[in-house]
Amino acid sequence: MENKLFFGDNLEVLRDHVPDDSVDLIYIDPPFNSNRNYFVLFKDRTGKASAAQEAAFEDTWTWTEDSEATYKELVARNPNRDLATTTESLRQFLKETPMMAYLTAMAIRLIEIHRVLKPTGSFYLHCDPTASHYLKLLLDTVFGPRNYRNEIVWERTSSHNDSKKWMQVHDTLFYYCKSSQYTWNAEYLGHDPSYVKEFYRYSDERGVFRLDHIIRSASMGPRPNLAYEYSGYTPDWGWRVVREKLEKLDADNRIYRSGTGRPYIKRYLAEQTGTPIKSVITDIHPVSAVGKERLGYPTQKPLALLERIISVSSNPGDCVLDCYCGCGTTVTAAHRLGRKWIGIDITAVSVAIIKSRLENSFDDLKGKVQVEGFPQDAESARQLFEIDPYRFQAWACTLIDAYPLTKKGADAGIDGWLNFFDLDDTSQRAVVQVKGGKVQLGQIRDFCHVVQREKAAIGFFICFGDVTDPMRKEAIKEGYWTDVGRHDYPKVQILTIADLFAGTARARYPSQHGKSMLGFKASHQERAGQQKELFDDD
Ligand SMILES: C[S@@+](CC[C@H](N)C(=O)[O-])C[C@H]1O[C@@H](n2cnc3c(N)ncnc32)[C@H](O)[C@@H]1O
Repeated sequence: MENKLFFGDNLEVLRDHVPDDSVDLIYIDPPFNSNRNYFVLFKDRTGKASAAQEAAFEDTWTWTEDSEATYKELVARNPNRDLATTTESLRQFLKETPMMAYLTAMAIRLIEIHRVLKPTGSFYLHCDPTASHYLKLLLDTVFGPRNYRNEIVWERTSSHNDSKKWMQVHDTLFYYCKSSQYTWNAEYLGHDPSYVKEFYRYSDERGVFRLDHIIRSASMGPRPNLAYEYSGYTPDWGWRVVREKLEKLDADNRIYRSGTGRPYIKRYLAEQTGTPIKSVITDIHPVSAVGKERLGYPTQKPLALLERIISVSSNPGDCVLDCYCGCGTTVTAAHRLGRKWIGIDITAVSVAIIKSRLENSFDDLKGKVQVEGFPQDAESARQLFEIDPYRFQAWACTLIDAYPLTKKGADAGIDGWLNFFDLDDTSQRAVVQVKGGKVQLGQIRDFCHVVQREKAAIGFFICFGDVTDPMRKEAIKEGYWTDVGRHDYPKVQILTIADLFAGTARARYPSQHGKSMLGFKASHQERAGQQKELFDDD
């Protein structure tokens, strides 16, 4: 499959758009079932957008009619009988708890993930210990215990506030393959500087080296073919190599003789591959709160982690899929490493951020990332409104870099927020209302009241059109918001979707100096192999 970015529920997108056996590598980092709500906690530049969204997602994992229907599908209609049994057993134990709701949603998706993976494909599930043991049961049932490869522990933080238990500082990644034939590109870690300092203490014209044994130890026992005299030295338990090899090494100046005459083999630093990657990852640090890579997304994973996974488990040209794409770390890493990619996310803001991250990071993607599920013109926007008004609202907010509210009725008359900085660097708030149907004068009036009630600096009213003169007059009556006594901005702005598409209208608020309020704009070209940090919020 070619590069694709989808806005939608991964269950539907996988079922409708991703063929069987078509993807080489899948990495997912689904929202965990933990006390902290990881679902979507975007923080914009002002750090203020998160609270509303946090509230909106509080009830993400409750046992609902959907959970019941999915459970029935898993138990009654699913050909994988082992999975049906596992799911039934889990429910007997867990009852209709949030954990069971979460596992049910995961189980049905794991079936699709397994289906779309090529027979030679690999799968990584990133989670934390809150649900990892239950997820392992599901994974063993879907992939088969024989296809389990590793539990990988990533030290994601150096400390955590756990006063009366072991500090919880790691995430867990489960690594499975679809069969015993799979891609594995061995990777090695660089040398530990303290080890180098301690052991690589010798040097000659070839470079620094450490000493390694060429003589057998007592515990190795004797070997008749390795017991010989060489250069006046006859070790008690013989040599580790045959005479011809030792002669060759010596001729190549690779034998070192200590003060006592005891020979050693020289191991040159430049010739050592390093240590093979381990199942405990401590050398990849989390995305720092002030780092340039940060996009304002608390669950953002470091590019280095995804690059390691993609490098070992796929080849250039392979297709990598992340169906819980977040702010697009996997697809960004995949593009950097010359892989094709598919990203899916259910949240409009995520998808808008991923699109801008990719387009701003890679010259070859500039202006070219199409989002399946995002309208491309006013007509398809109208279709989205008819099919799914809430998704339409969320998408419309991203048109002006606003954060949509994700729950119906969360705040009366408000569909989204846009926080920005004024000339004094004080954060200001604008409210957004999106109307999909026909607009009435009374609705503009009501929106003006919302702007007043919320004490918002500005209000943006997004609609399809048919904006009449009386409506414009009503908006103009609200006057202006003045930025630190210098620039005036209409207090209530009516924006039509057609004008926003055509670029003939835009949300007017103080320039943020090229910064997007929606995530943090990626501004550096990311190239494979480039080691420096890649996103700059300057
Ligand atoms: C923990 S975040 C992933 C973070 C990502 N690894 C990164 O580095 O940016 C989980 C993401 O899954 C998305 N998500 C949750 N349920 C989904 C679903 N059913 N379909 C598609 N995306 C979903 C959320 O919107 C959220 O962006």
